[in-house]
Amino acid sequence: MSQQVKAVIARAKGAPVEVTTIVVPDPGPGEAVVKVQACGVCHTDLHYREGGINDEFPFLLGHEAAGVVESVGEGVTEVAPGDFVVLNWRAVCGQCRSCRRGRPQYCFATHNAKQKMTLLDGTELSPALGIGAFAEKTLVAAGQCTKVDPAASPAVAGLLGCGVMAGLGAAINTGGVGRGDSVAVIGCGGVGGAAVMGSRLAGAAKIIAVDIDDRKLETARRLGATHTVNSRTTDPVEAIRELTDGNGADVVVEAVGRPETYKQAFYARDLAGTVVLVGVPTPEMTLELPLLDVFGRGGALKSSWYGDCLPSRDFPLLIDLHLQGRLDLDAFVTETIELDAVEQAFERMHHGDVLRSVVIL
Ligand code: APR
Ligand code: ZN
Ligand code: ZN
Repeated sequence: MSQQVKAVIARAKGAPVEVTTIVVPDPGPGEAVVKVQACGVCHTDLHYREGGINDEFPFLLGHEAAGVVESVGEGVTEVAPGDFVVLNWRAVCGQCRSCRRGRPQYCFATHNAKQKMTLLDGTELSPALGIGAFAEKTLVAAGQCTKVDPAASPAVAGLLGCGVMAGLGAAINTGGVGRGDSVAVIGCGGVGGAAVMGSRLAGAAKIIAVDIDDRKLETARRLGATHTVNSRTTDPVEAIRELTDGNGADVVVEAVGRPETYKQAFYARDLAGTVVLVGVPTPEMTLELPLLDVFGRGGALKSSWYGDCLPSRDFPLLIDLHLQGRLDLDAFVTETIELDAVEQAFERMHHGDVLRSVVIL
């Protein structure tokens, strides 16, 4: 027996999103149906709506979510009905060349549900990042459900499903920030803010937040920044060097995704330092750097996908730290909204008014 539930879809490129009724099949082998409790609004949802990811409309949006498992299909052992879970878009396969080398955080063949959710007329939906959680219920691969402590609020827990994990992981997993390091974070929205918070958690001694918006710099201070630089009025490379005895930071996290901010990150790091790109560029962007500087400055230029997280390792740990009062994930929830307010939330996100709007179901 399939079910009919309310959900937010993007029907055509650029058209406003709409709330409609969708059909969610019962879970097949290896699948689970999750009753969604909260789902954050992420830039990637807007990119889908604008046709920036692919043309497989209609999209079922939403992918930063937490909820309760309602039912599971044949052979599912890792989760059971009633479990409180954060949904992830890295359900590792265990068999690809990366998994086989013991690096499941880079899995190249992650699992999604095999069956399709549809509109009432049978049109198949493309769920955002294989999740689709601006919906009362959604169908996912069981491996996309990561059990965490149910004491956490769904609005907060869901954030680990995408943006906050991306930023935290960019600093801790990809950048390897450690005790005593100096870190600079360029762009302090939800993702960069989480990189600031992750750097503090990892014991960084100096955390320099860079943004062009003073509101974001204030938030970054609350999240753990020790210094702030408004790069609209101050040269960030010079400022970061000055704040690090003329050397540059050990790790610079670029959480904007533009050539000019990448160059700032490149030159604001110390010799043998690390740049982590977590902001997502658009296809037309290109980068020009003197190759001699790339060679001569040494170190590492890395990209971070989903914070190089392993959901089964990282989500429960981060939720536990949050419940112990050591990770203020609440700071990222600017507002909670209803399912029919996603379009307005896109507007506010576009204007930089929010870290995260979270739909509560
Ligand atoms: N220099 C410094 N900061 C900048 C610049 C710039 N040239 N341009 C924009 N910013 C700041 C904005 O003021 C904002 O605070 O970058 C921040 C971006 O934050 P959000 O718009 O909230 O985006 P966020 O969710 O943090 O994602 C950042 O990561 O996952 C990707 O697609 C996402 O590319 C985006 C990036
Ligand atoms: Zn794999
Ligand atoms: Zn996202």
